[in-house]
Amino acid sequence: MKVAPSILTADFRNLEKEIRLIDSAADYIHLDIMDGTFVPNLSYGFPVVDAVSKVASCPLDAHLMVVNPQKWFEKFASYGVQMLSFHLEAAGWKSGRYLRQIKKLGMKAGIAVDPDVPVKKLFPYIGKADFFLIMSVFAGFGGQKFIYETIDRVHELQDEIKRRGAECLIQVDGGVGPSNIQALKQAGVDIVVAGSSVIGAEDPVAVIRELQAA
Ligand code: DX5
Ligand code: ZN
Repeated sequence: MKVAPSILTADFRNLEKEIRLIDSAADYIHLDIMDGTFVPNLSYGFPVVDAVSKVASCPLDAHLMVVNPQKWFEKFASYGVQMLSFHLEAAGWKSGRYLRQIKKLGMKAGIAVDPDVPVKKLFPYIGKADFFLIMSVFAGFGGQKFIYETIDRVHELQDEIKRRGAECLIQVDGGVGPSNIQALKQAGVDIVVAGSSVIGAEDPVAVIRELQAA
């Protein structure tokens, strides 16, 4: 299992220290970009992305929870971000075009969906998206409780990906930790995002390794 710790709940007074610690063990660093419109919260913007990119050695994975995500694709590419996802709810029928734009900029392109979006809505993008981000909480805040129906949603998506013989990774984000990692692994998840279970732990590196070992 690949693990992408989210720095959303990090101590930003000591961001460099937090990044260095998780960077030593993580597979990716997950950046949660919120605009206060698509989600009822603001997170952080380019000065923070820039700072993280200068400290981290592992690849960056940015999750855009914003309206008009296409405005920012080039800027994220310029910071060396390797995985970039936007929400289907924000992009609608333009999703196919956005995937192509992200790929053209040299990044892996992903589509994210909140828990109330039927996974069938992702089926047209199988074979087009490099990855799907299935939210296991409603986008907007760290530290929420994992929604268990997510496991069924992952199974449904994974079955369809296999049925079509497509190459496509599944990422799950929200409330992930040691208590649900086995179920996620069994459902066929490739990458988990983990915010508070890692950042809030006494030994973040140990938690990352525990999740990776699942
Ligand atoms: C929620 C974000 C998540 C979140 C993960 O909107 O997309 O990435 O920060 O944090 P935890 O693991 O605490 O749910
Ligand atoms: Zn996220």
